[in-house]
Amino acid sequence: MRRKLVVANWKMHGSIAQNQQLFDAFKQKLAPIDNVDFAVCVPYPYLFQAQVVLSGTNIAWGAQNVGKYPVGAYTGEVAASMLKDFDATYVILGHSERSTAYCESGENIAAKFVTAKNAGLTPVLCVGETLQEREAGMEQQVVAEQLDALLLSQGGAVFEHAVVSYEPIWAIGTGLSATPDQAQAMHEFIRARIAGYDADAANSLRILYGGSVNPVNASQLLVMQDIDGGLIGRCSLDANDFEKICLAAAAVR
Ligand code: PGA
Repeated sequence: MRRKLVVANWKMHGSIAQNQQLFDAFKQKLAPIDNVDFAVCVPYPYLFQAQVVLSGTNIAWGAQNVGKYPVGAYTGEVAASMLKDFDATYVILGHSERSTAYCESGENIAAKFVTAKNAGLTPVLCVGETLQEREAGMEQQVVAEQLDALLLSQGGAVFEHAVVSYEPIWAIGTGLSATPDQAQAMHEFIRARIAGYDADAANSLRILYGGSVNPVNASQLLVMQDIDGGLIGRCSLDANDFEKICLAAAAVR
């Protein structure tokens, strides 16, 4: 059975003082939970703080983007090896807030994914459709294309020790989550698509759901067969809400 993973995506929120409070609360609340993996993905400047405060706890940390090249004259970019310098475990890639606002292409995201893996990071690849695409019945086609950007060039084995997060764009930050059945259907589709290339990688792959997960809907989502955890935005900025979501993950047998 795949161990559940709950990842906090703090987006562009926080300050040293606010982070300290949240880290302290997370540490205290999550310490007793031993059957779920946890991570907090922070803005780059706070990686050192995460490393100092979370080392030795059951909470890993990571970033929300990475440069696609290993090193060089790329002003403003951050290399995967730099994330490793701060003992980061995870890096979120292809989040729709980046691909839409900063015009990231599938090719670019695939390059970042490979760079991150080569550096020993665990990429969390976000995929998902817009409302318009869902209403047109194109959601599977859209997500298939996003996965194919990697599968066609790298094969299925690239998903070994990686994480995929299904994030319907219409559900992110809107309060309107996908239903458990909608999410399960897409998670099953994602696993099957990858299994077409590498059955073992697909079987062990953790597929998270992200998009307005909250303490009320978490249990119903996390109990679904192919939902292996959550990528949590808004509710990861509130220690009590985040704890409830993590407890819901821990309660799934
Ligand atoms: P949300 O964000 O939980 O605020 O909808 C999820 C995400 O963007 O990963």
